[in-house]
Amino acid sequence: MIAPQMATQTEVFAKPSVSHAGNKPYNNCFGEVVPGVAVFQKSNGNWLLGETMGEVAKLTLNGQEFELPVRIGTEGNRVIDISKLYQMTGHITLDEGFANTGGTTSSITYIDGELGILRYRGYRIEELAERCDFLEVAYLLIYGELPTAEQLEEFRENIRHHTLLHEGMKQLFAGFPPDAHPMAILSSVVGALAIYCKDSLDPLDENQRQLSIYRLLAKMPTIAAFSYKQSIGQPFIYPQNHLTYCQNFLYMLFAVPSERYRMDPDFVDALNLLLILHADHGQNCSTSAVRMVGSSNVNLFSAISAGICALWGQLHGGANEACINMLEQILADNRNIGKYIDKAKDPNDSFRLMGFGHRIYKNYDPRAKIIKQMADRLVAKRLGSDPLFELAKELEEIALKDPYFIERKLYPNVDFYSGIIYRAMGIPKNMFTVLFALGRLPGWIAHWREMHLTPNKRIHRPRQLYIGYPERPFVPLMKRSPKPLEEVSIKRPLGGPFPGGEFEL
Ligand code: CMC
Repeated sequence: MIAPQMATQTEVFAKPSVSHAGNKPYNNCFGEVVPGVAVFQKSNGNWLLGETMGEVAKLTLNGQEFELPVRIGTEGNRVIDISKLYQMTGHITLDEGFANTGGTTSSITYIDGELGILRYRGYRIEELAERCDFLEVAYLLIYGELPTAEQLEEFRENIRHHTLLHEGMKQLFAGFPPDAHPMAILSSVVGALAIYCKDSLDPLDENQRQLSIYRLLAKMPTIAAFSYKQSIGQPFIYPQNHLTYCQNFLYMLFAVPSERYRMDPDFVDALNLLLILHADHGQNCSTSAVRMVGSSNVNLFSAISAGICALWGQLHGGANEACINMLEQILADNRNIGKYIDKAKDPNDSFRLMGFGHRIYKNYDPRAKIIKQMADRLVAKRLGSDPLFELAKELEEIALKDPYFIERKLYPNVDFYSGIIYRAMGIPKNMFTVLFALGRLPGWIAHWREMHLTPNKRIHRPRQLYIGYPERPFVPLMKRSPKPLEEVSIKRPLGGPFPGGEFEL
């Protein structure tokens, strides 16, 4: 049993000083270098992440009592710190899906899922979405502060220098079949950057770390656009560095060498807004993947490639593509919304409303609210109306009145309406999650950087509760009786060695 209580013996900690350093190392009030992460130092010299006010949780195990410190975040959230639990008790915790587990401390993004609040580095998402440019937000996420005009220009300039890909990389694209999914291409080619950018692979070297950040921010739009061009058999369009980040991406995506490309400013604005809204979201599946992989001290390109793979799944970023597929299916099925609501509610049916529900939000996702407003404006201006958008709004209205969705607090999430905007811009479905990845990139980078700059950083290595066989005697091949297929977990690979050392041809 764990019950939070006040400790009898209150430990006194030095008053925390939250630092939000820019791209230069920051000296805190103790004279320690604290680059871009909020860390506090205890008077005894140990690093402390998150303040404690002497509050503890008491854990009783087999009659013995243990005290676990309760840490308090900036917004008053309380967490029970179990980092010494195994050492103290020989026990570990079990939390499938990490629904109750904080994997790290972080100063990047704050989410209140109950109230539907999202802030990057303390700034409300609504304000950033209305007033910022995507690279401004990227700078904010990565370095902790909004840039000055000078810092922003320097940041843009550094990124502009790296938009081209090595010419040899075009052969990679050429090798992919025409129907390859752009997410598969994106993760492969981003991973391959580690082959071409060998002088920026060391995450512990500040200069290399910084160079890899510029390179990745610059090259991801080029890779994303090339993967689309490859899939439709059009020539690659090289970046134009006088364009802004969003303009450049749309240009590389839609221009062809034989015609002049007229850029629609509404599309540039819509893309800028969507990228900002996707830019970070705490310890989500893909960000955790980036942190997990990055914790081994692998290079940034490999860690981000892992994040892209994690994002592709339909329960995560792949939901935007799946949502439009679902809406098309319902439209083709005589708009029978009731049938699909019933399927979503049926515990024996694996169907779920795509773009609905969230692990953290138990209220309307603030991003979905902004995206719906933008979809309203863009569809009205560009298309007049869109039958899928009308259907989506009706589906939302019905679901939000249904007790199943009310009781479970299931609301539209960021993926419910984003596809409607992409469609209005002429972006094909299989590129939707690629755009999510483009938006999430600064968040992934910010977390990867924060992890490397955190003094208490350790390789991520969760434990497990083993529920397999206890030790048992080995059975020689000739004496083995057939087992049901699911119990046979190890198969001899084709072409591998036989027990006698021979090879199967
Ligand atoms: N449709 C129908 N029922 C749902 C849905 C849904 N979209 N989402 C959750 N539920 C039900 C679920 O069946 C469960 O019911 P019960 O308690 O009776 O078993 C209850 O709600 C709780 O669901 P959960 O699966 O335990 O919740 P989770 O926090 O593990 O999963 C989720 C969160 C986002 C994976 C889930 O809501 C889902 O599958 N949604 C659809 C996919 C989707 O839109 N994903 C994008 C998420 S937002 C963008 C991002 O960050 O990636």
